[in-house]
Amino acid sequence: MPEVLVSRPLALESGDAAWLALKKIARVHVRTVESKVALTRHPKLKNVAAVITMGTDPVDSKFLAAAPQLAIVANHAVGYNNIDLDAARARGVIVCNTPGVLTNATAELTIGLLFAAARRFGEGVTMIRKSAYRGWHPCLMLGRELAGARLGIVGHGRIGAAVAAKAWALGMDVVHSSPMGGIALDDLLRTSDFVSIHCPLNAKTKGMFGSREFALMKQGSYLINAARGEIVDERALLAALRKNLRGAALDVFHNEPKLNPKLRTHPAVFVLPHLGSATVEARAGMARLAVNAVIEVLSGRPPANRVS
Ligand code: 8YV
Repeated sequence: MPEVLVSRPLALESGDAAWLALKKIARVHVRTVESKVALTRHPKLKNVAAVITMGTDPVDSKFLAAAPQLAIVANHAVGYNNIDLDAARARGVIVCNTPGVLTNATAELTIGLLFAAARRFGEGVTMIRKSAYRGWHPCLMLGRELAGARLGIVGHGRIGAAVAAKAWALGMDVVHSSPMGGIALDDLLRTSDFVSIHCPLNAKTKGMFGSREFALMKQGSYLINAARGEIVDERALLAALRKNLRGAALDVFHNEPKLNPKLRTHPAVFVLPHLGSATVEARAGMARLAVNAVIEVLSGRPPANRVS
């Protein structure tokens, strides 16, 4: 029987049909959430034909060298910036991702981030938790309304388009900028009240939001990021928050889970622990896509959602 390593327990019922089908054809090892063993050092890696990785697991040439039997990496994420595709190709390892099933969850979370930034949820919760709410008054913690404000969406794939549809329904004036179309990024930055990032992390987008981009943003505007932390230069973001930016709401950041303390404690910065796809529906869908990709490859059939 081929062996399969699953980087972390999946959000599936133990009786799930796809999971049972996998267990019928393979010996499955699941690394626990508490396990301190890095995936690259996992004792089973040398024997496995398939691995289900998380978006947080680096899959580089070192990892691939430690898994000489590997036929497929099924990445439990739509993003695959954690995988060195050239190295996988060089070893003939198939790489799959989990698109589509998390689009709505991530778009809904983004709308939540928009409200959190605009209506100062972070400051409000802090005030309550510190028992610092001394009484209501007309000027207490005023925010901005989304209706009528312009939302600039950077990147217009599935998630960006889903955010656009929801924001439009809220009465926002939505524009987008992507390599496939929309308006010029500089024009989007100059004219948007809220800028939301929805592009993949790659060599072109790494550090794409630096001091030049922040300087172009409107006075009193907000940054929303539910894509990847490394797209934003965090020092430039902190500097912009002292100038023209009114706030930021982030679901992702550099070096997760270690958050820069200046962002953690900044009153105008609202941060979540990478919850974009964290719904029962999306996580079950992601798990099934990853499990099915492994089943297909181990059965000698072409898998869906192959990225390399
Ligand atoms: C995952 C994500 O939660 O799909 C992605 O690209 O960022 C998230 O949905 C994360 O990558 C863990 O697998």
